[in-house]
Amino acid sequence: MSEMNRNMAELFMNKHGIDISMFDESFVNKTILQRIELSGCSDLKDYSRFMAENEKEATIFAGLLQVSYSEFFRNTLTFSVLESIVLPEMVFRKGNSKSKEIRIWSAACAGGHEPYSLAMIMENLIGKDDKMRYRVFGTDQNEKQVNTALLGVYSKESVGNVTRKQFEKWFVHSGSSYAVIPELKKHIRFSVFDLLSKHSTPPESIYGDFDLVLCANILFYYKPEVQRVILEKVSDSLAEGGLLITGETEREILKAGNFKEVYPQSAIFRKK
Ligand SMILES: C[S@@+](CC[C@H](N)C(=O)[O-])C[C@H]1O[C@@H](n2cnc3c(N)ncnc32)[C@H](O)[C@@H]1O
Repeated sequence: MSEMNRNMAELFMNKHGIDISMFDESFVNKTILQRIELSGCSDLKDYSRFMAENEKEATIFAGLLQVSYSEFFRNTLTFSVLESIVLPEMVFRKGNSKSKEIRIWSAACAGGHEPYSLAMIMENLIGKDDKMRYRVFGTDQNEKQVNTALLGVYSKESVGNVTRKQFEKWFVHSGSSYAVIPELKKHIRFSVFDLLSKHSTPPESIYGDFDLVLCANILFYYKPEVQRVILEKVSDSLAEGGLLITGETEREILKAGNFKEVYPQSAIFRKK
């Protein structure tokens, strides 16, 4: 980390409680360059001074580091393998075992698109089979995102990836937006949980044992040491034979670590 970035990191930590030294350095640098240009500052030194004196700029910068963009059924290939192979197999296997519950954790769920997508798939697979049960836990460190997820109301653009059939079944009009119906919501527990906290799993999940954990599109924002901490936590929370899903652009991070790709090109992994 450059001297200037170190100064900014210190300032940020003291003033805003955000440790920017945890983030991927090229991501931080790109964000700084973007803000230098937009704020009209001449260089990094000028920007560092500007930020130190300008609370609003610091808030904008913090917001840019905490990317919360999400989509329903994001990472199309991975979701389609989950829907057509992985989850049907899991339902079949669980159906023949003592525990008939499938446990899923969306560990950086942002505004809820990911857990709701998973619940739609599970509803379709389990349907009215009253012997089988599933639970989805959606957590995120950002309380605002968790509240959006709890509300479950989305714009027309953001439901674009939802098929017509699913859309008609699980959404109703809410003004000019669309709301997820309670029947789908009841399978999901949303809560605030920081993957870098000392707790190993979200307290309400009752000690992990997840068949599927999604930790998608979060790793690449962090530097390798932090990625490892997150990966250790989520993989420790897996049940035996459980699967870990990341973002498709994060596959190389897992392949370089202690994980084996289960379906080529998709971001579905097993611990080695
Ligand atoms: C880009 S979104 C990805 C959302 C979703 N998983 C997806 O793939 O579309 C990244 C999310 O990770 C969350 N996040 C970042 N660091 C986190 C941490 N340490 N613990 C929990 N959530 C975190 C952010 O708040 C944000 O909502």
